[in-house]
Amino acid sequence: MTCLKAVVILPTYNERNNIGSIIDALQAQFQHMRHDMHILVVDDNSPDGTADIVRLKQTDAKNANVHLLMGQKAGLGAAYIRGMMHSMDALKADVVFEMDADFSHKPEDVPRLMAALVEGADFVIGSRYVKGGSIPKEWGLLRRLNSLGGNIVGRYVAGLYGIRDCTAGFRAIRTPLLRKIVFEDLRVQGYAFQVALLHKAASLGATIREVPVDFIDRTEGESKLGISDIVEFILNAWWIRLHSSKTFIKFAIVGLSGVIVNLGVFTLLLQAGVNKYLASPISIEVSIITNFLLNNYWTFRWRRSQDHVRIKGLKFNMVSLVSLLVSYSTFVTLSMLFPETPPTVHQLAGIAPAMLINYFLNSYWTFKHAPGPGK
Ligand code: GDD
Ligand code: MN
Repeated sequence: MTCLKAVVILPTYNERNNIGSIIDALQAQFQHMRHDMHILVVDDNSPDGTADIVRLKQTDAKNANVHLLMGQKAGLGAAYIRGMMHSMDALKADVVFEMDADFSHKPEDVPRLMAALVEGADFVIGSRYVKGGSIPKEWGLLRRLNSLGGNIVGRYVAGLYGIRDCTAGFRAIRTPLLRKIVFEDLRVQGYAFQVALLHKAASLGATIREVPVDFIDRTEGESKLGISDIVEFILNAWWIRLHSSKTFIKFAIVGLSGVIVNLGVFTLLLQAGVNKYLASPISIEVSIITNFLLNNYWTFRWRRSQDHVRIKGLKFNMVSLVSLLVSYSTFVTLSMLFPETPPTVHQLAGIAPAMLINYFLNSYWTFKHAPGPGK
């Protein structure tokens, strides 16, 4: 079998207490591997002097395969992009690894990821959410929900349906695949890079495999994930959705028409002297019906649904009932809480949560695609 040149990219920001030992642990693993293994530390001028530790390591002849790339701090994604470019252009790597420098990813798992790649994958994910993988037992509810939420957004918003761990930061990727990707087009700086890159790889038809890994909580230093990373992550997922799915664009247009229908009917009924507590559910119902018809005959027309129109109609009615309840209870609650605000504002506020629930229930249930390749 051919020997590949692989570069393990370790982005670091204030990892002084981890970087030396992770380099040693990786080198120990490399001993048992028959590939040409390298380490590239991408440090953003860490104030704690992480880079000095790396330079010290480099003075040792046995660390001739350890490289250091310095730069300005611009986020995790920006650091990976720099590291990947350097690995391809200067180091001529066949494979790059993404890996945390804080021992959250076990160096012992590197050979397994490499093996999965050699067996025929372009993109291997060290996955916490496939059978055999795990997240730390000590994680509290909030941390679990946060990670789960990230994956749900990645899977259902960005459209990475078949993948269990979309946000994983431990991955092995073939560079011929990376060379097809224009990094600027990903338009991300922070942690959103993980989902953005994976989505791009999937849309290029890459063979993606998930290998189970245990994710270990760091003991030294702290996580660098910030609120701006979370905001970018969510916006990016919707951006991907918008740009890759005509279905969603159509759904958004239908949704907008529904808002106009809803508020239009509501205004007309109010002008006709109808009580606002009655006018509200009537206009909600009318817009739900127009939305369904447009979605059925336009947005989801191509879906090879197995259901008969009558069954779809039945499901639609049940979804409508849920949406109606959500929308109407929002209206009533807001009307009680803020009686001074015009009722049209309350009616508008009720549309947003109902529309989301409506989309997900209809897309994944009413108009669910029959098994087989989908759009
Ligand atoms: N150069 C550079 N610049 N390195 C950074 C930056 C940055 O702006 N931000 C973070 N890093 C480095 C850290 O020093 C660490 O080695 C690695 O990137 C991961 O950062 P952590 O801050 O430890 O990430 P985490 O534990 O919160 O998140 C992990 O899990 C996420 C999924 O739940 C990472 O594996 C993420 O990549 C992953 O998305
Ligand atoms: Mn970490």
